Formats: sequence, C-alpha cells, structure tokens
Amino acid sequence: MKVAVIGTGHVGLITSATMAYLGHDVIGNDLDEEKIVTLQRGQAPFFEPGLTELLEETLGSGKLRFSFDSQEAIRDADVVFICVGTPPKASGEANLIAVESAAKDVARYASGRVVVVEKSTVPAGTSARVRRTLERERPDFIDKFSVVSNPEFLREGSGIRDSLEPDRILVGAESPEAFEVMRAIYAPLVEKGAKLVETNIETAELSKHACNAFLAMKISYMNALARMCERSGGDVDSVAEVMGSDERIGRSFLNAGLGYGGYCFPKDLQAFERLASRLGYDFGLLKEVERINDEAVDATADKIIDVLWNLDGKRVTLLGLSFKPDTDDVRFAPALALGRKLQAEGATVVGYDPQAMANAKSEMPELEVASDPYTAAAGSHCLVLCTEWAEFKTLDLDRLKQAMAYPLVVDGRNMFEPEEMEKRGFSYYPTGRSPIV
Ligand code: UDX
Repeated sequence: MKVAVIGTGHVGLITSATMAYLGHDVIGNDLDEEKIVTLQRGQAPFFEPGLTELLEETLGSGKLRFSFDSQEAIRDADVVFICVGTPPKASGEANLIAVESAAKDVARYASGRVVVVEKSTVPAGTSARVRRTLERERPDFIDKFSVVSNPEFLREGSGIRDSLEPDRILVGAESPEAFEVMRAIYAPLVEKGAKLVETNIETAELSKHACNAFLAMKISYMNALARMCERSGGDVDSVAEVMGSDERIGRSFLNAGLGYGGYCFPKDLQAFERLASRLGYDFGLLKEVERINDEAVDATADKIIDVLWNLDGKRVTLLGLSFKPDTDDVRFAPALALGRKLQAEGATVVGYDPQAMANAKSEMPELEVASDPYTAAAGSHCLVLCTEWAEFKTLDLDRLKQAMAYPLVVDGRNMFEPEEMEKRGFSYYPTGRSPIV
C-alpha cells in the first residue's frame, strides 16, 4: 500500500522504516527541512538500536523516501499515519495543534480514498475532531475519508522490535472498509502471529492512555514500597520478586528507583488526568502516581544530603543521564531532575552517559560532563547510579573507588550487588534496601 507518515519523531520515524520493511511504499514527511535532508542521507536524528541499519535497507530498496513536501507525501497515499508531537500545555493537557494541522494537510492534498490514522498519543475524542476538521476543510470529499485510531506502544530503545513483534496491534475504526485497509497494512505481522485487536475509536484512544498510566502506576507502587522498606528494613527487590511470581501481577515494571521519565509517561499521565477531569471524573489515583514519582527523586536527593551533610564544595557524579538505558533521550529524565536539586544545594554535578551527553548538556548547560565513568568519578564525594546502562555492570569498581574522594555510592536503580560493593569497601546506599555503611 502507499503510506504517508506525517512527523518523523521516535514514533513517526520507526513507523516509516518498519512499514517500508513490511513492503509498503512509504513517504516520511516532516516540516523540519534540515531533518529531512539528514534522513535522506540515511542518518537517524536520534539514537535507537538498529534504526540506522533499517534506514539503510529501506532507503536502499526504494521502499522508503523522505520529503518535506506534505502534498507529495499525501497526494497518492492510501493511508496517512499522523505521528506528530502532542506536547503538554501548561495545564498538562495535550497540545493538539500539530494533529489539527496534519488533518488540514490531508484534507487539502488527498486525491482519492484515504484512511487517516492517529498514531500520536491523543485524548479520547480526538478522532471526532479530526473528522470534523476533514469535513470542514473538504466538504465535497468527506465520503473519501475514514478516521482510525491505531495507538503505538513502542518503547524507546527497543522500538523496532516492539513494532515488528508487537504484543498486540490495536485498531479502532468507524467503518468496515477502514478495518479492511488496516488489516491489509498489518497483514505481514498478523501472518507471523501478531494479535490484532479491533475496537471502536474511543476505546482505542483510551486504551493507550490506560496502558501508560497503569505501567506508571506499577512503578510508583514499587517506589512507595521502597519508602516503606527503607523505614522498616524490608527489601524492595525481594518484594518485587515475590509479587512478580504471582502471574496476576507479573514481574515487569516493578523496579523501584529514581522513577519514570521520558516523553511519554509524565505527559501522558497528565493528559489522561486532564481528560478525566474534563469528562467530569476525578481520577485522583493518577495524581498520586505522579506525586510518588516526584518523591522518588526527592528521596534520593535527601539520602545524598543526609550522607554528605553540606553539599557546598562537594562533587557528585551522576552515572547515566538518559531517562532509561539504550536511548539518548533526556526529556523528563530523573537524572537531570536530581542533578538540578543537588546543584541548588550547592553541589558541583558531573555526569557521564554512553549516548545522552550532548542532549543532557543542551538541556542542562551548567552540568559538567566527562568522557568516561572514571574521569566523571575523579575527586567525587558521591557517585549516583541514575540509569542502568549495561556497561555500568562491568565497571572496574576498584578503579572507580580509587578515583573518588569518598567511596560512596547511591544506587538509584539497584544495579550493583550489595555484597560486591561491601567487598570493595564502598559505603553503598541502594533504593528500598538496607544500606551498607
Ligand atoms: C513507554 C511505554 O512503555 C510504551 O509502550 C509507549 O509507547 C511509550 O511510553 P518509553 O517511554 O520508551 O515507553 O519507556 P519505558 O520502557 O516504558 O520506561 C519508562 C520509564 O519507566 C523509564 O524512565 C524507566 O526507567 C522507568 N521504569 C521502567 C522504572 O522506573 N521501573 C520499571 O520497572 C520500569
């Protein structure tokens, strides 16, 4: 099928490349000319494992093209995926101006039947507004448009695998024809066993927010338990094992630590909460999830202040700056929130990250960065493990200790083994587990 993808952020770019890989003829479109030129050269504008190789393959086969000309992208498309950003407004509500503008472009440039697919995370009710926009802009053409909600569940860092081997594909549509087109789009994945769930549009829109909010709730539940464990002598990782072996609960997303960040959970949770309130329902649980998540950073900062006493003149090293491993994304990264708090208390904060250093520096210019973990630890009074990159597992702990002013480690992701830290002579403060002092 002929596919246009509007927006080349994480979701749009991975959708473009994987749709082309599945055999569709894809044009990825973005208003940012510079970005399009970079993409045409096969360079990914962000770090995502496997993306460069996939771009090379699909650009090389001619299945994927990029264009900043919306008309060229939309004109012959059977399906248009809207993958534009939906950033938070000051109120927490999603700003949907880019979705409206994409819908207007589709109305303006479509030349035949077209299925308009919302892939960006949007509040329930958006499809009705997209449909109204199409009607207003192109009243003579309205029977040619179908609107579909097809939320994307990919995670940064494993986006390609998540797209090609999804847990489920969710399609909410309003007409049998639109379902038919979406079945054809996803046929290569369904043939390989992917589960296709078909619902009405509102259910699909709600489901995306419901999943993200539920996962965030699991994390906050564990972070609240971590606070309980720290006060009672329990061990949150062991509690997670016990809980996780109950198949009704499941082990994933039960890791306590510095909490969730990234461009999805924080903003989607707020948008969902705003949507609930607009619908006249007080979804107070979501506010608690957010509060506990903020508290996770505060509790870690308090721990550091408690151990170091005055931060003025002290040096704190942050290992890992991205919001999670295998991405260079630092948006709403707990590491940076922690860094800012420590700086406000007078500490000099120095960071190291395998991929996210440039982004961290532009988000937080006053952050010192170092070229490797040992340089970052040099003269440091406290090292904080903020993001559990695999390479931190194999650090030379003796070398790290030698470089530091005080042998003090705060583990914001419970990555290190307490016995090993004790053996190497560190004072070790994990999250929700007993410290070794
Ligand atoms: C998330 C959803 O998982 C994905 O389905 C959706 O499409 C987009 O939002 P992503 O933001 O890429 O994906 O990251 P994810 O892997 O879900 O992690 C989110 C945050 O939760 C990270 O900051 C991570 O460190 C944190 N996390 C995750 C925990 O603190 N504990 C856990 O147990 C799991």
